[in-house]
Amino acid sequence: MKGNIVVGQSGGPTAVINASVAGVYSAAKKLGVKKVYGMVHGIEGFLEDRLCDLDDYIHGEADVELLKRTPSAFLGSCRFKMPKIEGHEDVYEKVFEIMEKHDIECLFYCGGNDSMDTVKMLSDYAAAHNKPQRFMGVPKTIDNDLPVTDHCPGYGSAAKYIATSIKEIIRDNESFGAKKPTICIVEIMGRNAGWLTAAAALAKGEDCSGVDAIYLPEKTFDMDAFMDKVKHLAETKSSVVIAVSEGVKIADGRYVCEVANENVPVDAFGHKQMSGTAAYLAQQIAAETGLKTRAIEFSTLQRAATHMASLTDINEAFQVGADALKAANDGKTGMMITLDRNGDDPYQCGTSAYDIHAIANVERPVPAEWITEDGCGLNEGYEKYARPLIMGELTPMMVNGLPRHLVRK
Ligand code: F6P
Repeated sequence: MKGNIVVGQSGGPTAVINASVAGVYSAAKKLGVKKVYGMVHGIEGFLEDRLCDLDDYIHGEADVELLKRTPSAFLGSCRFKMPKIEGHEDVYEKVFEIMEKHDIECLFYCGGNDSMDTVKMLSDYAAAHNKPQRFMGVPKTIDNDLPVTDHCPGYGSAAKYIATSIKEIIRDNESFGAKKPTICIVEIMGRNAGWLTAAAALAKGEDCSGVDAIYLPEKTFDMDAFMDKVKHLAETKSSVVIAVSEGVKIADGRYVCEVANENVPVDAFGHKQMSGTAAYLAQQIAAETGLKTRAIEFSTLQRAATHMASLTDINEAFQVGADALKAANDGKTGMMITLDRNGDDPYQCGTSAYDIHAIANVERPVPAEWITEDGCGLNEGYEKYARPLIMGELTPMMVNGLPRHLVRK
């Protein structure tokens, strides 16, 4: 590669999205790329020519290691939708103008479904206007809903945090052994895909009885059936812990959180900002049964918990970054790196580059065959899929009793 490169981060952060930047950076340095720029706040910042030079922050292997242990988007993220090309050519021309100004040959974008749409739009524009610049997608999303790839970097770590925290919640909730149980409702992110909520199933083991029910957005949420289930569990158990996805919907198509609050805000991509499902359900249970309830919304915690990240996930996040760089160096463009599982026992996973058109804007749900017949649990098919993704740990670098992070100033 003769020119420079730029890497950006977009959408909801994950515990390992910085490992992907570290992967792009390290592979670029090995190949002798002169400058590795970072987009400050994704494509939105790039359009304002807001770039940083990663060499100003990474001064050797120790900083690469620290970056891998730093949560959130080191470069800054954004939720910016590229406009449709027709009538907005100036926005696209601006991207190429800034690329030319900094002699940037290839742009790498770490993100989920919406961010892959940006890669698709830019690579399509380049193809249609005979521009030589290349564009590569680096997968990232705790939602795990990108198609084609076996799984998405970010998912394994969020799943590990969720399963760990659920296990700790169950331990706490079981401690009272009261005649009437506390009903604990845990709300988990993931939008319209239940992958993250499914991770609650991983808490079950020889030292944990597991959650009592799991509600995924893949199944229509029936309030009456939910209440019957809670009442039955309350009669038969001294602790009840239930996992619900933020994206569960009732039969008329409304999210449960919209039933609680009609004015849910919407982002640039038209996604409703979901929150409040657990609080609403806990209130309904308390009102109908008089039982003690507790609502826990994992919210930001589940995607920022790098101290509980999966080593498998960190390594794969690094790998997809490095392999995106290699693919671009081979002349590829308009593609995303996918993780391709080659075996479960032992777990083995390779990568390849795949056409972005088959990936952008497509949401992959949890397969129906992994959901139990009653619709409130996951079977061993899911466990076999997910368990390898949460394996391994990377010890944080501790300072003053807390994990240390690499910070862009
Ligand atoms: O897409 C990742 C994600 O974490 C979703 O699971 C969640 O619904 C959304 O982002 C939250 O977005 P924001 O942080 O913009 O509210």
